[in-house]
Amino acid sequence: MVNIRTAEEIEILRENNLLVSKTLAELAKSIQPGVTTIQLDKIAETFIRDHGAEPGFLGYQGYPNTLCTSVNSQVVHGIPSNNPLVEGDVVSIDCGVKKNGYYGDTAYTFEIGEVETATKRLLETTKQSLFEGVKEAVHGKRIGDIGHAVQKFCEDAGYSVVRELVGHGLGTNLHESPEVPNYGRRGRGAKLQEGMVICIEPMINLGRKEIQQENDGWTIRTRDNKPSAHFELAVAVQKGEPDILSTFNYIEEALKR
Ligand code: MF3
Ligand code: CO
Ligand code: CO
Repeated sequence: MVNIRTAEEIEILRENNLLVSKTLAELAKSIQPGVTTIQLDKIAETFIRDHGAEPGFLGYQGYPNTLCTSVNSQVVHGIPSNNPLVEGDVVSIDCGVKKNGYYGDTAYTFEIGEVETATKRLLETTKQSLFEGVKEAVHGKRIGDIGHAVQKFCEDAGYSVVRELVGHGLGTNLHESPEVPNYGRRGRGAKLQEGMVICIEPMINLGRKEIQQENDGWTIRTRDNKPSAHFELAVAVQKGEPDILSTFNYIEEALKR
């Protein structure tokens, strides 16, 4: 069953996704060589609670932290650790909140200092592919239109699309119907309807698409150990053009300083 949200519900979801966006911007100020992902996790948890919300991932299916921090060849669901980030790393930071009964869920992949050109290009392409997918998230189009747009953009650039993990509906649960794959065929899949709220979150690999789970039971990494990138936005489907509920603007402003 797909939930159709009222204008009031969408405003709560917007507020929550903007809080996640601001949390990621707060982290951007501290992201530098030497910082540990557990330090970032504490900053995020404090910021979220100071804004009257709760971490959305903490305790979700037993997940132990506020953030998922996935470094280099880690794709998603990396558990924060005491390992310092080092120059040249990339780290996907995925953050969720819950407030007033609804979730927020947004992710961004950050560069630590100077990063190899090939990896930088992977990040740029993955972020742009997300916006190509978002353009399709309008009333009357289909789930497959989103996946096709993301897949085509990334594969044309020579990258591969992770299949096992997908975007999702967002609302009173972190993961709701429908599933939003980052691959697909135009005109296929469920029809998008005004009031649906979905998270689009391409997970794109520099090398091969195959992944595996680490022994911690959470972390997903590339099998070939090459880098992966992940960006996520929450979007409300409406007629004409998509209503993007999260933003990268705060993050990118913070990164300029
Ligand atoms: N980050 C995932 C998503 O964007 C959800 C993480 S759930 C957790 O949908 F339990 F791993 F935190
Ligand atoms: Co997420
Ligand atoms: Co998500």
